[in-house]
Formats: sequence, structure tokens, C-alpha cells
Amino acid sequence: MFERVDYYAGDPILGLVDKFVADSNPNKVNLGIGIYYDEDSKLPVLECVKTAEQRIADPISPRPYLPMAGLPGHRLACQNLLFGQDAAVLQEKRVATIATLGGSGALKVGAEFIHEWFPASKCYVSDPTWSNHIAIFEGSDVEVGTYPYYDTATSSIKFDEMLAFIAKLNKHDVVLLHPCCHNPTGMDLTHAQWDELLDIMKQHELIAFMDIAYQGFGQDMDHDAYAIRKAVALGLPVFVSNSFSKNLSLYGERVGGLSVVCPTAEEAERVFGQLNYAVRRIYTSPPSHGGRVVDIVMNDEALHQQWVGEVYGMRDRIKAMRLKLKSVLEANVPVRNFDYITKQNGMFSFTGLTPKQIERLQTEFGVYIVSNSRMCMAGLNVNNVDYVANAMAEVLKD
Ligand code: LMR
Repeated sequence: MFERVDYYAGDPILGLVDKFVADSNPNKVNLGIGIYYDEDSKLPVLECVKTAEQRIADPISPRPYLPMAGLPGHRLACQNLLFGQDAAVLQEKRVATIATLGGSGALKVGAEFIHEWFPASKCYVSDPTWSNHIAIFEGSDVEVGTYPYYDTATSSIKFDEMLAFIAKLNKHDVVLLHPCCHNPTGMDLTHAQWDELLDIMKQHELIAFMDIAYQGFGQDMDHDAYAIRKAVALGLPVFVSNSFSKNLSLYGERVGGLSVVCPTAEEAERVFGQLNYAVRRIYTSPPSHGGRVVDIVMNDEALHQQWVGEVYGMRDRIKAMRLKLKSVLEANVPVRNFDYITKQNGMFSFTGLTPKQIERLQTEFGVYIVSNSRMCMAGLNVNNVDYVANAMAEVLKD
């Protein structure tokens, strides 16, 4: 009966985790999945999260269903972080926000909404992008195309090509953008480039879908949200999917949000209703634990400040690892230029290694990076960075 069912080849990122776990190499290093590990290769529990957990656990409370849109405090946390605490657009009640199951859940609900209410719209993603972007939109029957973004040969953004391409799209097509810490390349637009791009999108009446999963890991919380706030200021229709997986180190809690910025409060109310209905049809309502942690940490001033400091601590450690990796590589492979490593932002570095070099890293050294050559800098630490740099230097000699 099920013999017609296709085998699943596995996910290019999550599948690597299983391979890594099964590897018996004592020196193995997982630089595949985008997870921040600390200096001891441990997944951190942030101090602000520990305090929130203590408040939740005492007293032990009943677990009713949450509203379809999740906890009000979780939704407020998303809005303040993305648009700024006193943003006019929030005071004008023009943003419909729901809490979602991580960033993926936000993208899924957003894709369902686009499919339902903008059935003629195509969604354009950067070439390359996070593989799940394509899978999620196609899974909701939205046609997906790519816009030029990254040139591996020069390790730079093809900005002019990107602009020319976007200027040819049809009214109400969706452009999926990464406001900061582009996944997988780590190469972000400058603020001046965002201004130019968003102006063109406004002229052509395009929809901006901003996926922000690494806020705080680029420059700072506000700088990283620049593109979102600029798009709102220009009056573009804006969808924002955000994730707290990385910046609260709450990966398994699946906490994120979807916000849709509308021209009027009345439209925002309609959109909010339809987002609720989409959630009801898919999973009814989100689980409560992670949402409560988000609510407590983000809406308590002292905990919020502590959180910001902890995120910047993670950001700075990654930046230090970039410098270290670059300097060891420069010493070992002087013929090559490794400037790209410190130009890129956030957790990822797009190395441009060939499939053969990636395979050698894995089989000879137990160093795992994604098959598109993306390396997670947040898995490096003082104990393994020399080993990884030497392994890279070895395979680069090919
Ligand atoms: C990544 O890009 O590695 C993370 O966002 C984890 C994932 O779900 O792929």
C-alpha cells in the first residue's frame, strides 16, 4: 500500500547532525547546524532564562490551551524587538502579530497566508538561501524563484544584478529578505544598499518578507532590525518572521513570531483574524512553556538588559573565532585570501570549499560543514579552532 511513497533523502542540515553523532572520531567538530555552543562546546542556558524558569516553576501552574495567537506577552516581545519599543506603527495598531513555532512556524503560517490571499504572487528567495525557505513556500503551493545575491568567486554581494532583477518583478510578488546575518553566506547589505533596494520594492509594489533569526548577532539589536524599520517607514507591506531559537538559546522550545505590517488598524485586525485561522487549521495553538520564558525575559526590564548583554557576549565570542580562524589560515595558506571570514556576519561563513574538500574535511578530520560550503562559526572555540583551521588548510592544498 505504501510502496508508492517516496523515500526522504533527508535534510541537508539536520541530516548532518545524525552523521556527526554516529562518527567515532574523537576530534570531530560539528560546524553544520546553526547552533551556538559556548567555549566548552556546550549549549548554553542563558542566565536570564534560568531566572525566568525559576519564576515559572514556583508555583507549579495549570496548563490551559493558549490562544491561537499565543501569549500576549510573547507577541508584545516580538513587536518591541522588531519595530522598536515606541514605534508609531505599534501605537497605530497596524501590526498583526502571532507567536509561532519558531521561525519555521512563522514562515509556514506566512506562506499559507500568501497562498490564500495573494494566490498570483510568486516568492523570490536569495541565491543561495536557507534550504527550508524554498521547501516551506513550495510546501504551501507558492511558486518560488531566486534572485541573484552572492558571488562565491569574489565573496561579495551581486548588488547591481540583484536590484536589476527585483525591478522586473510583478506587483505583489514576495521578496524574501534576511535583515541581518544572511543564512548561509553571512554577507549583509549595508544600510545604504537597503535604502536603495527597498525604494525599488516600494516603486514596484512588492511585498517584503523579512526573515530574522539572528537579531543581536550582527551589530546590535537596533542595527540588525534596520531593514525592517526602513521598510515600515517607506510604507511597504511587510511580513516579518522572527525566531528566538538562537538569541534566547531556546532551540527546542520552538519560539518565534509572525508579524504583518498593514496600512491601517482595520486591515491589521482582518489579517490577525486570518493568521489565527491559519494556526487553527495547522496546530490550533502553540505550546506554553517557551512562550512564558519569552514573556518573562523580554518584558522584565532587568532581565531584558541581562539578555541583551548575554547575546552580545555570544556575538563577540563568534567574532573572536572568526579572527582566530582567519589568522591561522593566512599563516598556513598564504596564497589565498581569507578576508571574507571577518567580513561576514552572524553564525555563518560561506567558505566556497568544493564538494570534494567538504567530503575530505568530514571523512579525514571529522569536521562537518553543510554541503553548500556553509560553516557555523558558533561551533568553534579555543580548543578546536586550530584543529579546524589546519584541517581546512590541508584540504585547500588540493
Ligand atoms: C540552520 O540554518 O542551521 C538553522 O536555522 C537550523 C535549521 O533548522 O536548519
